[in-house]
Amino acid sequence: MDQDEKKYRVARAALSFVPANAIVGVGTGSTANFFIDALAERRTTLRGAVASSEASAARLRAHGITLFDLNEVGELPVYVDGADETTRARCLIKGGGGALTREKIVAAASRQFICVVDDSKLVVQLGRFALPVEVIPLARAQVARALIQFGGRPVLRAGFVTDNGNQILDVHDLVISSPGELETQINQLVGVVTNGLFANRPADVVLMSTAQGLERF
Ligand code: A5P
Repeated sequence: MDQDEKKYRVARAALSFVPANAIVGVGTGSTANFFIDALAERRTTLRGAVASSEASAARLRAHGITLFDLNEVGELPVYVDGADETTRARCLIKGGGGALTREKIVAAASRQFICVVDDSKLVVQLGRFALPVEVIPLARAQVARALIQFGGRPVLRAGFVTDNGNQILDVHDLVISSPGELETQINQLVGVVTNGLFANRPADVVLMSTAQGLERF
């Protein structure tokens, strides 16, 4: 089974976490896209969605799914999104698509965060995937210097601007032994909007697609 087939299957499985008549939080990326397409089949029993990126908003809109601004709605029952890495403790690295800040906001506004991945994303320790850090452009060099002090090798994501008008530093070579601590420390750097560690608010459920079927942890 190829990776897309695994993503397709796990994304469809997440539908069972979506209650009837709900406004659902929707993530970003290729796995989230499969979820959006599956969600479209439930359109008639769905109130709508809050999107974590302009790209997901466009895809939801194209399916005729009503979009809400997070500020107009209260707590969401569920947020469904992919990840770049997950541990068995459900700590994640996200932001490969650059939507980490809005993803973290919508996840924080949701009772349940269901993370949908294929088994290539499972790691024992986070950090093989470079950690995305969204920065205010004015602070880019200053934040990069501080990230070097953390043992990382920050690389500017060339030609990329986030939906919030900011830049991304992809930080290679970090040894992430305490993801929650590192998440807090990086977020405290002046000029950082947020970083792609989801450890202080990990996923509540990870659904992982393997060649043998689905695993849940
Ligand atoms: C988007 O910014 C990311 O956080 C995605 O959730 C992550 O990159 C996973 O993407 P895929 O589902 O495309 O692998």
